[in-house]
Amino acid sequence: MIKGKPFVKWAGGKRQILDKLLKYVPYEFETYYEPFVGGGALLFELSPKRAVINDFNKELINVYKVLCDENKFKKMCSVLNNYEANHSEEFFYEIRNKDRKKAMFKRLSDYTRAARTIYLNKACFNGLYRVNSKNEFNVPFGKKSKVNTYEGNNLITVSNYLTMNDIKILCVDFEESVKDAKKGDFIYFDPPYDSDTSTFNSYTEDGFGKEEQKRLAKVYKELSGRGCYVMLSNHNTSLVNELYKDFNIHIIEAKRNINSNGKKRGKVEEVIITNYDREQQPR
Ligand SMILES: C[S@@+](CC[C@H](N)C(=O)[O-])C[C@H]1O[C@@H](n2cnc3c(N)ncnc32)[C@H](O)[C@@H]1O
Repeated sequence: MIKGKPFVKWAGGKRQILDKLLKYVPYEFETYYEPFVGGGALLFELSPKRAVINDFNKELINVYKVLCDENKFKKMCSVLNNYEANHSEEFFYEIRNKDRKKAMFKRLSDYTRAARTIYLNKACFNGLYRVNSKNEFNVPFGKKSKVNTYEGNNLITVSNYLTMNDIKILCVDFEESVKDAKKGDFIYFDPPYDSDTSTFNSYTEDGFGKEEQKRLAKVYKELSGRGCYVMLSNHNTSLVNELYKDFNIHIIEAKRNINSNGKKRGKVEEVIITNYDREQQPR
């Protein structure tokens, strides 16, 4: 089977530590849940037949939904062809600034919005997703003379995977997205990172601060009590160590690429936390 890969570059994307994550994935499970799916690095690598994926970011989830619908996917591809052909700095800002006119933006078709999200991700500076307080995409032009939105056959591979399997796509809060998880299901939480130095992280218009990390730990414990396999990744911070002290904390080293400040790119310690010991599972 040819596996897809993330169709957008995403802050906190897990492509670089996939091999480390895979070492902790249970050998067997029922439904796969990814409540903070982002670019879906682990989702595509595992390509489970039954999954529930979720993210708070409406524009991102709209892309997943369009990819999941054959007809809309075709229409999105023709918009992408047009965007690739017209690509220039001026065109980038024209597409980017469509969300400044709220009423018109709301009237855009879902497949046009999906094409816009993919195009902006490929054409903007460093593949960041960032919005201002009015929820307007505000990353500047990435200065590429050409953009490749399909990345070979990747969009087709991803669309085939999403349409041919039982994949439920949600855009709700993480807690709500796991309410139906049952014993034997596997949940992978990849929340916005905690930090020992700052008190605020923001991916979407909603922040994910210390209180959110604490709420997540409660949900983690509750799912663990239900008999689910639960895995979580985060930075190796004091709060994370305190919140998950009753579980298995594995420290790993990760290389981080998405940081607009070049000096801050580099190696940081991350943790992978599990409520099970994979080696105790039947293979
Ligand atoms: C670290 S990223 C996930 C990266 C992903 N695993 C990947 O490989 O690309 C965290 C994601 O959580 C989402 N998010 C933030 N707050 C959320 C919430 N309360 N509920 C659901 N998703 C949320 C963000 O939109 C972001 O996409």
